[in-house]
Amino acid sequence: MAEMNAISRFFVNRSAARRSARRYRWIRENVTIPSGAVCLEIGCGNGQLAVRFVDGFQPAKYIATDIDPRQLEEARRTLTARYPQGNPSALELRAADMLGLPFADSSFDVVLAFVALHHAGPAHRDFSRVPEALTGIDRVLRPGGFLLYSEIFHKEPIRRWLTDHGYSIGGVQRRWRLESVAARKRAAPS
Ligand SMILES: C[S@@+](CC[C@H](N)C(=O)[O-])C[C@H]1O[C@@H](n2cnc3c(N)ncnc32)[C@H](O)[C@@H]1O
Repeated sequence: MAEMNAISRFFVNRSAARRSARRYRWIRENVTIPSGAVCLEIGCGNGQLAVRFVDGFQPAKYIATDIDPRQLEEARRTLTARYPQGNPSALELRAADMLGLPFADSSFDVVLAFVALHHAGPAHRDFSRVPEALTGIDRVLRPGGFLLYSEIFHKEPIRRWLTDHGYSIGGVQRRWRLESVAARKRAAPS
């Protein structure tokens, strides 16, 4: 797994509020989040997107996960600042490794992974374990659900993996090296 050092963590977390505002707008423009949605965020970092998403879309459940306890601590601080009276009951922070997601099959309507998927590999440019992360996401995402992600690495192979596994690709936005995608899992046959 490609870990972040203290300097990377500092820079990633410093601009997270601004990035999350952009991501939130992009989600609103490209996806209809169903009311009562159950959502999972992978690699939530300092939790800025989690609070925006929960405030804006009011999902039934939003589980924000990260593998790094220091990032979860940052996320806890973000939540305490935003919700001084206590967190909304829909919002949960939890430690989880994207390579072993501790959730039941088809249990989420939306999975979010912003600049997180490339961390599955032993190095950022190593794609070898990204398919394993995508397989885990596919397992926990219900048919017809959305994987919302952005990436700076492995953009084309991730899109190819998704289309090969029946996802439709939408909402593609490219900004510098970053590509954001709203990938919809094929619905169950009726
Ligand atoms: C580049 S940061 C992005 C954080 C946040 N999504 C953002 O955009 O501000 C990548 C995040 O993924 C987390 N991460 C790394 N490996 C992970 C893994 N195997 N499972 C879950 N999270 C992981 C890191 O701790 C870090 O918080």
